[in-house]
Amino acid sequence: MSRIVVVSNRVPVPAGNSGHAGGLAVALLGLMQRRGGLWFGWSGAVTEETGPPAFSRRGAVGYATLDLTEAEHRGYYTGYSNGVLWPMLHSLPHLMSFRRQDLDTYRRVNRRFADNLAPLLEQDDRIWVHDYHLFSLPGALRSQGVRNPTGFFLHVPFPAPDAAAVAPGIRSLVQDVLASDLLGFQTASDRDNFAATATEFAGAVRTGDQQLELGGRPIRLGVFPAEIAAREFAATAAAQSALEPARLLARSLQGQSLILGVDRLDPTKGLPERLEAFRRVIARRPARSATMLQIAAPSREDVLAYRRLRQEVDSAAGSINSEFGEPDWLPLRLLARPQTRDTVAGFMRLARVCLVTPIRDGMNLVAKEFIAAQDPSDPGVLVLSRFAGAAAQLSSALLVNPHDAEGMAEALACALDMPRAERLERWLAAWEAIAGASPEGWGEDFLRALAPGDLAGLPA
Ligand code: ADP
Ligand code: F6P
Repeated sequence: MSRIVVVSNRVPVPAGNSGHAGGLAVALLGLMQRRGGLWFGWSGAVTEETGPPAFSRRGAVGYATLDLTEAEHRGYYTGYSNGVLWPMLHSLPHLMSFRRQDLDTYRRVNRRFADNLAPLLEQDDRIWVHDYHLFSLPGALRSQGVRNPTGFFLHVPFPAPDAAAVAPGIRSLVQDVLASDLLGFQTASDRDNFAATATEFAGAVRTGDQQLELGGRPIRLGVFPAEIAAREFAATAAAQSALEPARLLARSLQGQSLILGVDRLDPTKGLPERLEAFRRVIARRPARSATMLQIAAPSREDVLAYRRLRQEVDSAAGSINSEFGEPDWLPLRLLARPQTRDTVAGFMRLARVCLVTPIRDGMNLVAKEFIAAQDPSDPGVLVLSRFAGAAAQLSSALLVNPHDAEGMAEALACALDMPRAERLERWLAAWEAIAGASPEGWGEDFLRALAPGDLAGLPA
């Protein structure tokens, strides 16, 4: 069985901050722990000077990580990845902030990753590159003479060519990523948008649903929706619901229905729109009938749009509480601190409704986690944006358009009042959509598509 080399910007290094929220690490960690391999990427540290990779190991996973300099972090991560690519990929071009030097730094850091990774590679390795921070890496590896099978998976959406074109530099990045043998996406529409963009920007030819050709070289395309370990998460949620954080929360509710939101504090997550829908619902209901807990973990605080969002969300939350609160009751609890994933699982099990209402999202694992966390005899209701990748699989949720505040308010009210029989029916359909899948299966599907000759399964 050949070794897997995962490359991603964010690496959950053993010594790092395990409270860090984010779908990529969650999707990959279980797979890597079970399969073993090398995980290469950013250490999470910003230092004065660049050096060689640092090595560490936990179980079967070896880690090789590079620090970023202050200028690299500013240009590659904050500037171009999160200030240009992220808003473009989520169709929020008005949030883009472009500086030419950031694009240069992005390319330079991708080359530095390739230069440091190439000497670590063994002949039979399969390389799996992740996400928009590293669009240029496959091209940079090929320039280093690396010929190993190389796959790229995009965790976030990809828009239509006209929308992609707004990001300066994107044409050359599309060319670079086309040096991969396999390109994976969360949904069929992301795949099709990318294929149309590759055709228009790079002269690729679409030779089939699942294939492009560039200069006579085939590039496979695939749809691989990211999954969670649903049964494991269900067991964690059940266990956690009996522990202190969940018990304290349950006691404080005094019988009120809990409405839950769990997100990184990110402009794509639709938090102001969600709070507006909640405001409308709470205005029409008696005090103390429902309480909302919104956990909003700070994220990418160096990016201006994220700092502004924090102010906007704080202010909206304050105004809801000052308008509808009572001396002994507040309708909204807002926590701008990450909680552990286990604690969140326990909270999810207590919730009558979970609001997962992004403006746009590649997959959104929180939606799947909420379904997994429910008590099968008395499940809660998922209110889900139709613009999250998860909506393609969880069509029994109450699907909403986050731009329609009144529509979301109606869906939230409907969820709060939904009879048990309908809750059961909707939940069961959603559970069946996720219960048989796993991050390991997701990874294995991708790796099999990358190197069809190597069908070795995962160790049990
Ligand atoms: P993204 O990758 O954009 O952050 P996902 O919903 O796909 O979004 O994945 C987020 C992961 O991080 C989930 O496993 C979720 O439980 C966790 N997470 C998100 N927000 C928080 C939070 N505020 N506190 C704790 N964990 C969080
Ligand atoms: O899932 C999308 C993603 O951008 C991942 O690539 C990333 O690890 C996660 O969100 C959290 O963001 P960041 O790594 O910038 O904190």
